[in-house]
Amino acid sequence: MYKVKAGIIGLGRLGKEYAQLIKNHVKHVDLLAACSLNQEELAFAKSKLDVQYTYTDHHQIVNNHDLDAIFLMSPPVHHAMHLIDAVNAGKHVFTTTPLATNVDDCNTVIKTAKNRPSQVVMIGFEHRYYQAYNQAKAIIDKGQIGEVIMINSSTFDKEKTDMYYKQYGVDAGGIFMELNIKNLDIVRWLSNKEIESVTSTGGSFKYELFDRLNDADSVMSLLELQGGGMANVAASRLSQDGFNFKTSVFGTEGSLEILNQSSSESIIMHDTKGVNIKIPQTYFERFEPALLAQANDFIQCIQESKRPSVSLEDGLEATRAAVAMTKSFLMKEKIHLER
Ligand SMILES: NC(=O)c1ccc[n+]([C@@H]2O[C@H](COP(=O)([O-])OP(=O)(O)OC[C@H]3O[C@@H](n4cnc5c(N)ncnc54)[C@H](O)[C@@H]3O)[C@@H](O)[C@H]2O)c1
Repeated sequence: MYKVKAGIIGLGRLGKEYAQLIKNHVKHVDLLAACSLNQEELAFAKSKLDVQYTYTDHHQIVNNHDLDAIFLMSPPVHHAMHLIDAVNAGKHVFTTTPLATNVDDCNTVIKTAKNRPSQVVMIGFEHRYYQAYNQAKAIIDKGQIGEVIMINSSTFDKEKTDMYYKQYGVDAGGIFMELNIKNLDIVRWLSNKEIESVTSTGGSFKYELFDRLNDADSVMSLLELQGGGMANVAASRLSQDGFNFKTSVFGTEGSLEILNQSSSESIIMHDTKGVNIKIPQTYFERFEPALLAQANDFIQCIQESKRPSVSLEDGLEATRAAVAMTKSFLMKEKIHLER
């Protein structure tokens, strides 16, 4: 079968892991090029990923005529520009979340993609490729827990250091965009309802740096859903045991909880030290099997000229809610989502 020739933009915390996943595990793809602002990362790409081309300017990678597709792993504030330039250069594009950091940019990306219907443009909501989340979705859609009336979904990232947050805090789009965006898609996807309003609160309980950035280290939001129902979405950068991602759904006839283990590690170990449950330490570790399934699906969509099951409009709606949550947090008031 024809191998898709791909490049990757961004080789940071996620991009480096993702590039190795593409190179070593994704089927029917050759990773030929990488783009990063960091020379050490480009040296890694040459020596460990064996790419032919390295670039520091994204225009060069998207205009490389040897490439069919781009995996986008750059900081959120650059997604819209990188997506638009890659799509206009004729490339299929897979982007990690968010689609863009504001609604106008999301709409421009969607318009650009619509003008290029033969190209696959896909956003990464990997929980949709995660077995336990899919089982939960099937149970809900069969009506087995009745009408969904409450969802709790949270992301608690393992605590890092002041230096780390100084280096990475600014381009990430804020805690609502960075840590809550997947939870927002989970709420919409599992409830089959749009988000109507958000009320957010939070603070910088341990890292005052986030105060200075008008951001927070821990936040919580109450969401009202169209047609009834509510969700509680929380995020923190202060998790002590590892990367925790938890979702529970409560319905009129039952409830369900999706456990926090990565799919490959569901063991509770008992020994002389007591009971030990392995908690994933990073986002990548937590979602690796789903990230692989998702990347394989992107390549399959290209090969079979299929549309991805997750739409760019799903990306838009998650960004719309994350923007509203940030506004609610800053203005200390309930925000109704405008459509
Ligand atoms: N880190 C995670 O665990 C995680 C989890 C889920 C999603 N994501 C998403 O993945 C993306 C990357 O996150 P990260 O944590 O790896 O970021 P990072 O800051 O660690 O890395 C960013 C990479 O992008 C490159 N870059 C920055 N500006 C660029 C530009 N203008 N042109 C070309 N390259 C540029 C940098 O050189 C670096 O290689 C973000 O959109 C983030 O929301 C990250």
